[in-house]
Amino acid sequence: MNSTTNIVLRRPDDFHVHLRQDADLGEYAREAARVFARVLVMPNLVPPILEGPDVSRYRQAIREQAPALEALMAFKLLPRHTPAQLASLKTAGAVAGKVYPEGVTTNSEDGITDLRQIWPLMPVLEELGLVVCCHGEKPGVFSLDREERFLDEFSQTVTKFPNVRFVLEHVSTASAVECVEHLGANAAATITLHHLEITLDDVIGGMLKPHLFCKPIAKRPSDREALRQAAFSGNPKFFFGSDSAPHLKGKKECAAGCAGVYSMPVALEGLAEVFERAGKLERLEGFCSQFGAEFYGLALNEETVTLVRDAWKVPDLAHGVVPYRAGELLAWRVATLSTGTPLNA
Ligand code: NCD
Ligand code: ZN
Repeated sequence: MNSTTNIVLRRPDDFHVHLRQDADLGEYAREAARVFARVLVMPNLVPPILEGPDVSRYRQAIREQAPALEALMAFKLLPRHTPAQLASLKTAGAVAGKVYPEGVTTNSEDGITDLRQIWPLMPVLEELGLVVCCHGEKPGVFSLDREERFLDEFSQTVTKFPNVRFVLEHVSTASAVECVEHLGANAAATITLHHLEITLDDVIGGMLKPHLFCKPIAKRPSDREALRQAAFSGNPKFFFGSDSAPHLKGKKECAAGCAGVYSMPVALEGLAEVFERAGKLERLEGFCSQFGAEFYGLALNEETVTLVRDAWKVPDLAHGVVPYRAGELLAWRVATLSTGTPLNA
């Protein structure tokens, strides 16, 4: 048994979350505020977050529901965006434009087919300092190969525009890890908790597990291993984005189930378990509380969060959604948020 009973970390940020909208928004936003200081909020709503006023309205709605949460705003980046619209998005407080390839995930029907379609916007994005977040899957390709087939256009884009920052979101393959490692300092990647833990076999290798179905789909054990090594490496190009993506139970347990894993209720606790199991707890803080903020040019959070070794059972249902690791025991519990000295200060 490990002797560590307390983990004190600089308060973490989550650089990829889905908070949804309307009646659903409050519960999901407050769940995030439980642990995270800041979250980068994805724009794939219906209708999508496309323009400055959408960003302002959405941020205000989040603020009303979860005043303690700092929402970093993203908009859906489309080839038809004009320089004036991008400037107004920046003025409204957006920090990133999210690129969705067509049809690869929830609400992406209006997406692009090739990253080169947004090349004409790059000088403006550079001038405004907007980060480009990419859902890295190529439309129309066999699902296990979609991410790998996106890497060419991603690499070309990152190399051609060295003064624009790019994030390859929720990487799921060894190839993507290798690609980001070899690109310049303007490329980074987010990694989710679930991609650090599961493979395709957990989804379909035995009984079908719809609550583990997400985009990009979890891949091979060798891919998971590469993701783990990237997360544990201390390489600042890899940082945490949960991709917590709640869908009501009935939308997952049906004939055509939605993609997305709702990991927010267990996000930090689950990460602590993964890092501890690997003997890499000392690398957790960089991964979830430092590298993402630095890449986005944000100050590090001052507060700390304390995890205690005190097992608890993940509920079967949270706000109508079956959370990641539902019904399982988790070793770590978030005890306090406070100001104080971070673990690795
Ligand atoms: C996300 C969602 O439901 O919004 N789903 C998912 O499987 N990850 C969208 C996304 O980030 O791809
Ligand atoms: Zn997502």
